[in-house]
Amino acid sequence: MSVSDVQTKTRYWLEALEKNPASALHEGNVEELRDCLRFHEHRYYVLNDPLVSDYEYDQLFKLLESFEQSHPSLVTPDSPTQRVGPGLVKDFPKVEHLVPMLSLENSYNVDDLLDWDRRVKELSGLEEVEYCVEPKFDGASISLVYESDKLQRGATRGDGVIGDDITPNIKRIRSIPLSAAFSRYGIRQIEVRGEVLMSKSNFAKYNEKLQEEGIPPLANPRNAAAGTLRIKDSAEVSRRNLEGFIYHVSYTLPTHPVGQDGKGPVSHADMLKMLWDLGFRSPQQERKIFNGIRQVIDFVHQFEEGRDDLPYEIDGMVIKVNSIAVQEKLGMTSHHPRWAIAYKFKARQAESKLLAVEYQVGRTGAVTPVAKIEPVPIGGVTVSSISIHNEDYIREKDLRLGDHVLIERSGDVIPQIVRSLTEKRTGHERMIGFPTECPECRQPLFKPEGEAVWRCTNINCHAQVVERIIHFVSKDAMDIRSLGDANVRKFFDMGLLSDIPGIYTLDWEKISKLEGFGKKSVDNLREAIEASKAQPLHRLIYALGIRYVGETTAKTIARGIRHIHDLSELSEEGLMQFEDVGAKVATSLHAFFHNPDNVQMLHELEKLGLNMQSQQAAVHGANLGGQTFLFTGTLSKLKRSAAEELVEQHGGTLLGSVSSKLNYLVVGEDAGSKLEKARKIPSIKIITEEDFLKMIES
Ligand code: IVH
Repeated sequence: MSVSDVQTKTRYWLEALEKNPASALHEGNVEELRDCLRFHEHRYYVLNDPLVSDYEYDQLFKLLESFEQSHPSLVTPDSPTQRVGPGLVKDFPKVEHLVPMLSLENSYNVDDLLDWDRRVKELSGLEEVEYCVEPKFDGASISLVYESDKLQRGATRGDGVIGDDITPNIKRIRSIPLSAAFSRYGIRQIEVRGEVLMSKSNFAKYNEKLQEEGIPPLANPRNAAAGTLRIKDSAEVSRRNLEGFIYHVSYTLPTHPVGQDGKGPVSHADMLKMLWDLGFRSPQQERKIFNGIRQVIDFVHQFEEGRDDLPYEIDGMVIKVNSIAVQEKLGMTSHHPRWAIAYKFKARQAESKLLAVEYQVGRTGAVTPVAKIEPVPIGGVTVSSISIHNEDYIREKDLRLGDHVLIERSGDVIPQIVRSLTEKRTGHERMIGFPTECPECRQPLFKPEGEAVWRCTNINCHAQVVERIIHFVSKDAMDIRSLGDANVRKFFDMGLLSDIPGIYTLDWEKISKLEGFGKKSVDNLREAIEASKAQPLHRLIYALGIRYVGETTAKTIARGIRHIHDLSELSEEGLMQFEDVGAKVATSLHAFFHNPDNVQMLHELEKLGLNMQSQQAAVHGANLGGQTFLFTGTLSKLKRSAAEELVEQHGGTLLGSVSSKLNYLVVGEDAGSKLEKARKIPSIKIITEEDFLKMIES
């Protein structure tokens, strides 16, 4: 389908959806709608360049879904709907790969590469070899089998011969096509290989979520991807947004003898192109072809320098002999093909020794053990202390004082202990004890049932108060950077600062007499504090340090309210209306905003001039906060997209279908089935376009 075909069809379906969804789809055209959805998925997940809004995509998707629900016999295994929905897997059966999954030979420096090139030349009899170079993706390897153009199964590497059949989870990865027209290339059955990754940004979000829930973060995106592939709840796999890169064909069964029609790939680059054209995310855009090893060496060095700018982790480059005929001539050992080699980037892992453990009290009273290690450089920084999260983590990793430990720091990721090197133990290592009282205020520690974290429950514990202030002023919160950790601690110890509102009533006369506080730095500090008063509401919500409320949740909440005081009026159920807010977060928010001390503090901050209004509210005088909307029929004044935008600008949320979650159905001309459905749900308010416009103006 061409872009303009898809656009026309998309428009047609969206209109049909409005007018009479019941008769729009039938057995004869449903596959066209599926193709349209596949096209949009490819644009979004492989090319990163969507043609339609998420909302429009969802609408089309729901149209297909409801048709299939009423015609279950017409559902196809490669329908886009087959990627979603709940799906609990019991166990992953074992499967044998069609061809054993070999590994790669490794190289670490220029000499290794020159040596390998020499061997390739010798064995092939060529004077100069053409190489195709691509990234070495740092994830979990998979193999996929397609038969008659349909994805049959997906498996983990396992021991290379037998892996786990993880097909239901593979289907949740949207850059992996459920069907691909291999038959166009004369292929009936094919096995392809690739790597499943979690992008750095999704990994950071995922770890943030874990930490908000009190679960230790994962060491690197590779572990996150590998772990996710083995989750038994496929719906959770969808939420983690894995990506699949496919870089190798290991087996093909032709529909007729190969090589006779001249259609098949004759080089590795051709093969990447074939995969790309069939909708796979092959390294088509990253790969480069060179004649001779010298240029290859320059290229891999250049790529290594740009490594941190990539959205996903790579741990090296793979250099492959481009010609498939030459590859066949070179063959393979039992371990790796002779026609390929991995060039490994400088390690972001290092070995060190665990010297001591210190305990820090955080702003929520959580006592976190921090490992002091012999300083080691990793990926350009020297690491000397690493959070080891909680007591269970120490036990699970079996960490002991004096242990040799493997440390990893991937890109912008916080360093972690990967494991203790138990094989290096001498017998002199000592178990790590855990304190029973707060290292700061000496009150007994408490561990709630079912949690892994010991806490100091004294909310006046100085360590907690200081940490709360430090969090409040931090970069992602109110961003009063010139105040910083050191100054907060100093002012606190001197009695100049004892709580959050105190930041805005600092005694400048006293401060300007302190050493190191000249006129200029005092002016800067005062200015930064003053400027923070205007920070958007979501920063203030995040800055309050409410348990389980990270930046993302703070943003969702701020979008749904007009004023911070709205939060004191919402019940736990009301709070759960916000996207991403589950029972645990709602309980925590509710407790915070119903605690008289906190309410008092917010009033004080308001009096001191801090912004407490949602941005949308401030700009638009908005009042749709927390309400859900859906439009149906033809609007007379506004375009549909403009009306939807207004809802979002005014803090409302759009829904895709009629359900009890819907607050307002805005009805235009010729409204159809949605109106009928909404009439059956008494809680939905059915309003006209005029009513809607009045709501916004009021
Ligand atoms: S080629 C027979 N290409 O690295 C072909 N492997 O350390 C062998 N890997 O087992 C694989 N990126 O899981 C190839 N562009 C790439 C790769 C790649 C990552 C993985 C693969 C392999 C491992 C070896």
